[in-house]
Amino acid sequence: MFSHQVLVVGGGLAGLRAAIEAHDRGVDVAILSLVHPLRSHSGAAQGGVNAALGNAEEGRDDSPERHAYDTVKGSDFLADQDAVEEMTADTPERIYEMEHWGCPFSRNPDGTIAQRPFGGGAFPRTCYGSDKTGHYMLHTLYEQTIKRGIRVYAEWTVLYIVVQDDLVHGLVALHMPTGQVEGFTAPAVIMATGGAGRIYSQSTNAIINTGSGIALAYMAGAPLKDMEFVQFHPTCLYPINILITEGARGEGGYLVNNQGERFMKDYAPTAMELAPRDIVSRSIRTEIAQGRAFEDVYIHLDLRHLGQEIILERLPGIRDIAMHFAGVDPVKQPIPVLPAQHYTMGGIGTDSWGQTPLNGLFAAGECACVSVHGANRLGGNSLLETVVFGQRAGVRVSEWVKGNGAANPARVESALSASNQRLEEFIAGKGEEDPRLIRQEMGEVMMEKVGIFRHRDEMEEAIAKLRELQQRLAHTRPLYGGKRFNLDLLRTYELRGLLLVAEVIA
Ligand code: FUM
Repeated sequence: MFSHQVLVVGGGLAGLRAAIEAHDRGVDVAILSLVHPLRSHSGAAQGGVNAALGNAEEGRDDSPERHAYDTVKGSDFLADQDAVEEMTADTPERIYEMEHWGCPFSRNPDGTIAQRPFGGGAFPRTCYGSDKTGHYMLHTLYEQTIKRGIRVYAEWTVLYIVVQDDLVHGLVALHMPTGQVEGFTAPAVIMATGGAGRIYSQSTNAIINTGSGIALAYMAGAPLKDMEFVQFHPTCLYPINILITEGARGEGGYLVNNQGERFMKDYAPTAMELAPRDIVSRSIRTEIAQGRAFEDVYIHLDLRHLGQEIILERLPGIRDIAMHFAGVDPVKQPIPVLPAQHYTMGGIGTDSWGQTPLNGLFAAGECACVSVHGANRLGGNSLLETVVFGQRAGVRVSEWVKGNGAANPARVESALSASNQRLEEFIAGKGEEDPRLIRQEMGEVMMEKVGIFRHRDEMEEAIAKLRELQQRLAHTRPLYGGKRFNLDLLRTYELRGLLLVAEVIA
């Protein structure tokens, strides 16, 4: 049994930032992560992080208030406006902190952090490190974690949050390399496990983004919020859905249909390609539905007019991705793109300090929902959310553990033996249903019936299908029963949580 004051579940940006804050406030904090922290999905974020720094010539009048206004408008006026104001007010400090910790942001000639335009923003407000901003920020925070000697339990998957008498007592987790199940006691847990993109068959999200943390918190009794709001990024590489950053349109890229038209003129004649994402994704879907897509499936993102120099300097990762995965060099050819699931606006309901209504349970980052995105998150506001609300969760959790008693190890012991038994029974199960088919059918029904456009009948069909899949799940078992790094076990076991989150969304 391991024991700490605070356990952070997730080693991405929100989790690392929360752990750093808790550590700096004198708390014994540890991180449990499904993968090595540097392999967290935060590292896949490309285009940048919004902050009203006013560094761009056209952005001198920018302010946190204006950033808040754009965020609320982009959310279709469904965000919590007070929380948005708190977020945008904290942002410049969080970005300068990243800068002082050595994050290699791209620069203006005068040495200030460079900012590019992003969809829905009144000014160029998105700070970036070429097109690898998440990667740079993740390395920066991981360095700070190592510097502080914060304990990281890498390659552990959490099976259960131990809650009794309305109090968190710790976690039960599986060590993937050995198959060992262990208990962790702590009076406070911060969930920072990322989004649930993988419940959709087409998503920019990594294979680890299953919504497992959301499902665990829900099963522990925490309320979820805004779950119907799912973001579809307009430009994902056809046919494998890798993100092609909005920064490509921020730098001046065009969206073009099979008639050779910049069709955004028909949907958002002023903002054009830099309209908020929900509008651009709906417009592309409409073009596809009305027969103006290439091969009936995708449209073109054309960067050729930007020229080789800009593409190589500001979008080198995009060029690599297009060349390696679609055989297209954006310097010479347009990139085939289409919308795919990208971000989970909903999640574990928290206040603006990461606190859930469940005593001792906190959440930050994409798995959490402070409701700062409403129905549509602005591009560049997710990296921002991780550092702002990660830091805030670290502040509040430190106050919480100092003011509240220790966890009860006996509760964790009994949860550990129950979890062990459940796992053994699951491995020894006799079911004949193929878990891979269940996952595939879930992804397809979510994409087709709970996607960009939604209709009551289709959503009801989706719910019926998801319930059928839940029944079938009772008759599955892992195809391989070994202990060491049994990804088959993990993929099958996590399906329960995936289906639960899918049903909540539907
Ligand atoms: O397009 C992008 O680079 C993604 C940014 C975001 O989701 O915030």
